Amino acid sequence: MNANFPVAYRVTHRIQQTTDTVTLRLRPVDATLPPFLPGQFMMLYAFGVGEVAISISGDPNDQDGTLEHTIRAVGPVSRALHDTLLGGVIGVRGPFGTDWGLETTAGRDLIIVAGGLGLAPLRPVVLAAMAAGNHFGRVSLVTGARTPSDMLFRDEQEKWMADGALEVHQTVDRPTAGWRGRVGFVTEPTAHLAVAPDRTTAFLCGPEPMMRFCAETLLRKSVSADDIRMSLERNMQCGTGLCGHCQLGPLLLCRDGPIVDYATADPLLTVREL
Ligand SMILES: Cc1cc2nc3c(=O)[nH]c(=O)nc-3n(C[C@H](O)[C@H](O)[C@H](O)COP(=O)(O)OP(=O)(O)OC[C@H]3O[C@@H](n4cnc5c(N)ncnc54)[C@H](O)[C@@H]3O)c2cc1C
Ligand code: FES
Repeated sequence: MNANFPVAYRVTHRIQQTTDTVTLRLRPVDATLPPFLPGQFMMLYAFGVGEVAISISGDPNDQDGTLEHTIRAVGPVSRALHDTLLGGVIGVRGPFGTDWGLETTAGRDLIIVAGGLGLAPLRPVVLAAMAAGNHFGRVSLVTGARTPSDMLFRDEQEKWMADGALEVHQTVDRPTAGWRGRVGFVTEPTAHLAVAPDRTTAFLCGPEPMMRFCAETLLRKSVSADDIRMSLERNMQCGTGLCGHCQLGPLLLCRDGPIVDYATADPLLTVREL
């Protein structure tokens, strides 16, 4: 299969998460792309409009050829993808990039911190951790959103809380009537987590300042920078390490990222990308 040519996938389910964000489930029309790992992304092509990078938000245990993507409409391409109706067809290339490296974390405590749309690439980690029983130690999830109505996968988060397989701490910047969770940034619940630094791996995804603050919070708790993994986004075009659009210092983030450990990311995040 040629990674430069999109393969047709049909929209079989649409779940409107918030006013501007939808989760699409896609089924191959004909050829099926290779299996994905949690954290990887696809290039999604809205025919006649353009192509953008979108993380895979679906269950890694469902490797039946279907894909799930959670898309926020911010510009022309993401709007066209967001608006694709049931039965509509999207072009897909991938999977691309590095993954969260869950296979290296057996027996370890996991801290998963998601700001806003950052829960999309982290949902596969949560679902894998829930399916894995006692394969991991203590699993803590911190999710944040601007308001309660901006919170993604809200019904699922309720189920995750009820299930008890992981601790879930929700926080919003601006509460509305009926909100029972915390108010404030994700750094606050993260700072209050009981952490065993020598057996903890952290996964962070959200706006870069949020990830930096969370990483610094975890470093203060003696978690090693090598054990803090974050997802970095830059402009992706080819997805295959050829065009150079996604360069960050010596890294091409479509190939060497998007998942990078904080020891690698920290010195680069102060350098403007090309
Ligand atoms: C590895 C990776 C994974 C991604 N995963 C997802 C995902 O799961 N869901 C999702 O909705 N989006 C995701 N994105 C972001 C998505 O690719 C961009 O929102 C998209 O490229 C915007 O294209 P557009 O033509 O719709 O808007 P544009 O016209 O390109 O941009 C519209 C506005 O959005 C801003 N913008 C553009 N790209 C980004 C970006 N990467 N981050 C923040 N703001 C941006 C622009 O500055 C502008 O203000 C991901 C990006 C990368 C690199
Ligand atoms: S997107 Fe072309 S090199 Fe990374």
